[in-house]
Amino acid sequence: MHSVRSPRVTVFPDARTAARVVAARLASALQENPSLVFGLPTGRTPIALYEELVRLTAARALDWSKVTTFNLDEFVGLRPEDPGSYRRFMQEHLFRFTNLDPQRINFLVGTANPEEECLRYERAIAEVGGIDIQILGIGTNGHIGFNEPGHELDSLTHLVKLRQETRRSNAAFFGGNIDHVPTEALSMGMATILHSRSVVLLAHGESKAGCMARVVNGPLTTELPASFLQLHPDADLILDAAAASQLTH
Ligand code: PGA
Repeated sequence: MHSVRSPRVTVFPDARTAARVVAARLASALQENPSLVFGLPTGRTPIALYEELVRLTAARALDWSKVTTFNLDEFVGLRPEDPGSYRRFMQEHLFRFTNLDPQRINFLVGTANPEEECLRYERAIAEVGGIDIQILGIGTNGHIGFNEPGHELDSLTHLVKLRQETRRSNAAFFGGNIDHVPTEALSMGMATILHSRSVVLLAHGESKAGCMARVVNGPLTTELPASFLQLHPDADLILDAAAASQLTH
């Protein structure tokens, strides 16, 4: 008998191989349970995963019609159709290649009243019975969603003031100009994320090596929000060789 450990750490030689393996697993999960509820991230990291999922959607004729999705976060002030919105990002990279029912695509609306919108989102997640598989990227400072390091973390979906470093890493999605990156966002909270039945975090590249070493080998701390995944009973950390280069064991 071997012990079941979580988070499980898996290292792939490169990001493309990681994306291929994770996409194949997600496709199989979807085929087994056509009513899966996915939590989805945006950013550079999941792009290869979405490309592979799009490929498998065509190759295996995946049926997304009963799938429900909840994205992690959205910028405040942007409308869903705005070019820099995460809603638009998802449309371009994944949704338009699937037969997802638009009614089952859940997104935080950046132009809504923030307080009411956060409550609405939590209720919507509860109404479908929670998230089955939450996919995550990670910021170089250890943030997940827009849960930034600090003395305390918010548990539920909430309004966030974005840090400069986070705005800087999003500038690429706004023509390279940090001044065009919104200053606030709405984000699922730590409990929202940790309540998902399973979590798959992807990390690629050397810039993530330091924070991944702390997530895997370091103490649990609000100064590194992703370290809370140490508490999750079914979490996978999927790294490429560069992101794993500072792991000690
Ligand atoms: P990235 O961002 O995938 O673009 O590196 C991840 C994040 O900041 O959560």
